[in-house]
Amino acid sequence: MSNNGIFISFEGIDGAGKSTHIDALKQIFAAQGRAVTQTREPGGTPLAEKLRTLVLLDPMDAMTEALLVFAARRDHLQQVIEPALARGDVVLCDRFTDATFAYQGGGRGFDHETLTYLERLVQTTRTLEGFFVRQPDLTIWFDLAPQIAAERLAGARVPDKFESQPVEFFARVRAGYQARLESQPKRFARIEADQSRTAVWQDLLATVQQRKWLP
Ligand code: TYD
Repeated sequence: MSNNGIFISFEGIDGAGKSTHIDALKQIFAAQGRAVTQTREPGGTPLAEKLRTLVLLDPMDAMTEALLVFAARRDHLQQVIEPALARGDVVLCDRFTDATFAYQGGGRGFDHETLTYLERLVQTTRTLEGFFVRQPDLTIWFDLAPQIAAERLAGARVPDKFESQPVEFFARVRAGYQARLESQPKRFARIEADQSRTAVWQDLLATVQQRKWLP
């Protein structure tokens, strides 16, 4: 953990249903008197939101995509996330670097080593204790079979570049998340997203309570 701030990211394939749970968790932390910064990636700053529009709508090769999401992340970390953690906020971030490993790495097959290098470059931060690579304190992975996610998404809205990908793409994205979980198991909590909304919420709450961040 960094100072008194808490950094929680939320991940999953498109259609896994993160959004309502992030909003609900924000309310619970706020009710405990915590300042909450709710944000998202790609995005979270004016510049990063512009990059988000490019990444989500314009066709580009996988390296360009990876560089743009990391550029957006750099700005987001410097302008929003690091200052919020330094103030002691709870930062709730809808996606972070695991999404890059899952989508650009798993989904699009971009080189894992290069992503690892970019992660270290972009996320190295300095605190009173010295330099370290910023990672979420907890990553909630809403895991769902791609076929079920596709059924949920069908007809919901006009799909962006990723949402219109076939089920096989999301199978690779899911495998990308699984690989990240296995490489950093302490940081990850996998939640079975193919349950009722109430059951998913109970699992999420229990995960946060286990870490003693909520009573
Ligand atoms: P998402 O978080 O699902 O937002 P919304 O609910 O508004 O659609 O959309 C973000 C998309 O961007 C999602 O398809 C995953 C993708 N993405 C990447 O490909 N790489 C990344 O590094 C990040 C953060 C997101």
